Amino acid sequence: MDKFIVQGGLKLFGAAEIQAAKNAVLPLLAASVLTDEKVILHNVPSISDVENMLHILSELGCVITRAQGSVIIDGKNAVSHELPASLTRELRSSVFMLGSVLTRFHRAKISYPGGCDIGLRPIDLHLSGLKRLGVTIIEENGYVICSADKIRGADILLDFPSVGATENIMLAAVKAEGETVIRNAAKEPEIADLQNFLLSMGAKVKGAGSGTVIIEGVKALHGVEYTPIRDRIEAGTFLIAAACCGGEIETRGVTEENIAALLHKLRENGCKITVKGDKIRLQSSGRLKSASLVQTLPFPGFPTDLQAQYTALSATARGTTVVEENLFETRYKYAGELKKMGADVTVRGRTAVIRGVDKLHGASVTASDLRGGAALVIAALNAEGESNVFDLSHIDRGYALFSEKLSGLGARIRRVKA
Ligand code: EPZ
Repeated sequence: MDKFIVQGGLKLFGAAEIQAAKNAVLPLLAASVLTDEKVILHNVPSISDVENMLHILSELGCVITRAQGSVIIDGKNAVSHELPASLTRELRSSVFMLGSVLTRFHRAKISYPGGCDIGLRPIDLHLSGLKRLGVTIIEENGYVICSADKIRGADILLDFPSVGATENIMLAAVKAEGETVIRNAAKEPEIADLQNFLLSMGAKVKGAGSGTVIIEGVKALHGVEYTPIRDRIEAGTFLIAAACCGGEIETRGVTEENIAALLHKLRENGCKITVKGDKIRLQSSGRLKSASLVQTLPFPGFPTDLQAQYTALSATARGTTVVEENLFETRYKYAGELKKMGADVTVRGRTAVIRGVDKLHGASVTASDLRGGAALVIAALNAEGESNVFDLSHIDRGYALFSEKLSGLGARIRRVKA
């Protein structure tokens, strides 16, 4: 078990290289089983969620090769349609493998992905969408067993613009008979990246980002070499860190439109932000004013994946901030750890009220989920004195070289055996 030792109180300066987006790479890896030809993905981050997904692919019979930051998936010998329970429990978002495995094998079996540290994570929208495509689904003994002699295009309306359900249905529809329309589809940039990836494999998909995705089934898909979009959540995490610690940093590779909601709030906090192409420069004195209200919403609203990090920033902003978490039921587990550092945070259901304090002080804190862990590191960077952040396995799920990148920005953070 490792921990971070952090000396807080330093400003951050420099440029942060941004990894390929975790939430783009995962569905692209799922899509790689759609063809028996080779798929090459570049710039793939070494994070445990990706390792788990690669392990799932190899359990299906794919041959995985790593070369520098690239991954080659050879699905020619993929034979199994059963997703290994031990792995899908680790990586519940692997549920969108159902769509691609069904397209490849016309059947798929997955253990019911349970809830996780941020919420119940139901999959009803995934399953109802697949049923609309003619997939027979049996749920028994904790497994979801799917089969479909023929997948037929359908008109599907999602009750909620679920990212995973949109992706699952896209992956199940690419070789269906006829046209599939997904209404109230998620608009996240990762959906557009999946559409671009599928198009480059020879699929016929359009409308990603508009809320209505239209897929015309094709006969076959071919191999592809592809570079996923960069991680808007990693970029947002570094920008929030520099905003509350003070300093001047630049992120590269993420466009303003992909994190516009965050930039709008950081400007409200008093940060100076300039954008040139895909370079975002932030300057901050570190003494921020509160933004009063932040509501997490589906894209293009404020991303739930930056809620925890932004709450950490609000802990020392002048004034009171109200944060409403509208996507997940229990995404405030980190709040108790922030209070150990002197933050004044009151959580009631989906709302957190944060009264800004002058300074946080160092403490020993433990991460309980991926983005909450990043929030604790941000608070430690901004606190006076030394902090220890434990249970880094959560952070390792989504941030590659996290302490190295922060050190590169001038932070005093090191990873040691706990
Ligand atoms: C994706 O999760 C991301 N994960 C999450 O990022 C992100 O927080 C989330 O989208 C929202 O943006 C990946 O892309 C791998 P949803 P997903 O389906 O697809 C409800 C991170 O930190 N819902 O859009 O699981 C659900 O309960 C992770 O990187 C149903 O009710 O999110 C939630 O309230 C965390 N029924 C809401 O929709 C369903 O069938 C949003 O979930 C599916 C979802």
